[in-house]
Amino acid sequence: MEYWVIGVGIIVLLMSWWWIVKKESNIKVRKGIKIPKGNAGWPLVGETLEFIASGYSSHPVTFFENRKSIYGNVFKSNILGSNIIVSTDSEVNKVILQNQGNTFVPAYPKSIRELMGEHSILELNGNMHKKLHSLILVFLKSPQFKAQITRDIEQTVKQCLASWTHKTIYVQDEVKKITFTILIKVLMSVGPGEDLELLRTDFGEFIKGLICLPIKFPGTRLYKSLKAKERMMKIVRRIVDERKKLMMNNNAEDQCILDALLRDNKGELSSSNPSSSLALERICQNIIVMMIPGEETLATAMTLALKFLSDTPLVLTKLMEEHMELKKLKAAGCSNDYTWTDYMALPFTQNVISETLRMAHVVNGIWRKALKDVEIKGYLIPKGWCVMASLTSVHLDANNYENPFKFDPWRWEKIEAVTSNNCFTPFGGGQRLCPGLDLSRVELSIFLHHLVTTHRWVAERDEIIYFPIVKMKKKLPIRVQPINA
Ligand code: HEM
Repeated sequence: MEYWVIGVGIIVLLMSWWWIVKKESNIKVRKGIKIPKGNAGWPLVGETLEFIASGYSSHPVTFFENRKSIYGNVFKSNILGSNIIVSTDSEVNKVILQNQGNTFVPAYPKSIRELMGEHSILELNGNMHKKLHSLILVFLKSPQFKAQITRDIEQTVKQCLASWTHKTIYVQDEVKKITFTILIKVLMSVGPGEDLELLRTDFGEFIKGLICLPIKFPGTRLYKSLKAKERMMKIVRRIVDERKKLMMNNNAEDQCILDALLRDNKGELSSSNPSSSLALERICQNIIVMMIPGEETLATAMTLALKFLSDTPLVLTKLMEEHMELKKLKAAGCSNDYTWTDYMALPFTQNVISETLRMAHVVNGIWRKALKDVEIKGYLIPKGWCVMASLTSVHLDANNYENPFKFDPWRWEKIEAVTSNNCFTPFGGGQRLCPGLDLSRVELSIFLHHLVTTHRWVAERDEIIYFPIVKMKKKLPIRVQPINA
């Protein structure tokens, strides 16, 4: 009986594999141009196991490097149940990131799509996406936002650092207290208090389901995450309702992204409009969804910045000198008011941040799906296939960066502007370029300034884990002392 079941299983696996191979060869014949070379791997699982194993190793680019050496910079594979073209070529990546809406659309795993819901900025396309993206960007670039958020970040960082002294703290957990507090301020102008703490707890539960099996019934990971999202939605709906009433009656300046969204939808939100509740629901959904790219990413970058600095004392000394210099300058001018520009204009600090982002794999690849057959640099990406622009492979390619595994902020003194460099895209590119780019840099800068000018620390040995997301094996324990002590 058991042999019979195993036999049928093998036949099903072989037929699925044959079907995949047949489908691909039809594509090749039909187009007369080649899809990139590569390996479809095993029936059903494809090359998923090798992909995951490489992610768990201390050298996560092995999966890409091995295939690159056999098939070239762009190759085909089958990962997580999808036929996929993987690009490790900066020029091909650029085209993938630039082409939006009519050629490529975001392709997130089913669990992520379930958790985001429809209308999310991460899934929207075309004009709706463009409008929402630019609304957020305009707000984040406004001078009044920059002035206010600089003060908020300083205050939050100082409070957090004060709670670190004379004990061992876990950087990976602690920096999230900073980044989440600031993110909620940016999204909804909500400060410390009960709402912030409830959102913090539920968000932690919510994101655990981002990478999980898409099975939804009581007890499953996805179910628990959706429940956490429901609880967050309740809080966000109440805040949105209160803010809407205020906004309808006055014309005060926008304090947060929520204000900007409400103002933009003012006409639709009037009580007489039948689509009013739909518009409100869309706004609430987007506020929650924006927590996803805004939270883990920056906290990871902060943690790894500390890890790299702890491992390279020469860099740390130079960084301290730059910040002490700024502190002295401010004191000489009898001013303790630092501006956004003060922090962004620290050249070595910005190089440390760029180098951290290059090596940290915060977002290691961007997934898209082709809406039609696309040819880039002679490679065919067939309609319906997924394509992964691997950012990490480009960031760690010896052809792009000398000695790529060395943490060397000085290399950025010789590299062309980080904004126009195809080989440096930690924030993505094109119409989906991260709107939180400058905010992330300033937040990192403020964090580093207060840390190195007021504290010293000793870090325990720890290792970076790269799968499913980048984190520290022991959460990076450090022992912190204030400088005067
Ligand atoms: C080190 C920190 C960060 C990194 C490395 C990062 C990286 C990225 C990347 C690579 C994308 C593009 C995704 C794609 O093309 O599909 C993106 C999009 C996005 N990021 Fe960030 N991000 C960071 C911090 C933030 C912060 C602090 C915010 C909060 C305001 C934020 C908000 C967003 C949003 C809303 C999008 C979607 C943009 C769109 O699809 O139009 N990010 N981020």
